[in-house]
Amino acid sequence: ADGTVEIPVVFNVVYNTSSENVSDARLQSQIDVLNRDYGATNADNSNTPSEFVPVKAGDTKIRFRLAKTVRKQSSTTLWNPDDNKMKSASTGIAATTPDNYLNIWVVNKMTGGTLGYAYYPGTITGSLDGVVIAAPYIGTGSGTSAPFNLGRTATHEVGHYLNLPHLWGSSDAGCQTDYSNDTPVSPGPNYGTPSYPLSRACGGVSRSQIFMNYMDYVDDKIMVMFTTNQKQRMQAVVSASGPRSGLRL
Ligand code: ARG
Ligand code: ZN
Ligand code: CA
Repeated sequence: ADGTVEIPVVFNVVYNTSSENVSDARLQSQIDVLNRDYGATNADNSNTPSEFVPVKAGDTKIRFRLAKTVRKQSSTTLWNPDDNKMKSASTGIAATTPDNYLNIWVVNKMTGGTLGYAYYPGTITGSLDGVVIAAPYIGTGSGTSAPFNLGRTATHEVGHYLNLPHLWGSSDAGCQTDYSNDTPVSPGPNYGTPSYPLSRACGGVSRSQIFMNYMDYVDDKIMVMFTTNQKQRMQAVVSASGPRSGLRL
């Protein structure tokens, strides 16, 4: 009634060792993180510097519900993000109706130390649509790996899935638009635990960076907020006329 969309999530856990067969409790902890971060009820949301408080999204009116968990053992110990083999019935687990469910694959390890990856709406064939996260970075608590142990990899990847580029644009070149006017243009990723204020330049003009946004590359404990324009972009995706309207069951 208040326009909130609840996205049903299917977890596809493709594990090699038993520790990679992430527990139901950890998967639920990931859903809980997503609901706090997308509802702006995360306690650390208040770490947003006053400069950026006026552009905070508040509640994005997007929520998540654990619909189903599928598990499968595999002899694969290292997955290549480029070939999507975790998404096939023969080498992994096939997606559950991707138009109606956000499929999240949990795999043991990815080449290049990739934490996770996702596709923008309408950019990949349905069977490959969704989000992939490496097991140590899903959810919170025992078995997760610092500094990516607060479930923010999924918050970030679901942002991509809902049409948010990185703060520096969708190419590695940097200083490109992210189509949100309330995020300062950025030359590229920030890592670790930067401290505010942090000025970086594009085209010779320095701007205070919104590195505490979920669409940067900082450590989980540093990323705490979406902006209003980002919320609008995500809402457009799940709206009745948007490319992911099927997620509103
Ligand atoms: N796409 C990035 C990667 O695969 C994910 C960055 C997530 N950042 C985080 N603090 N969890 O490396
Ligand atoms: Zn990303
Ligand atoms: Ca921007």
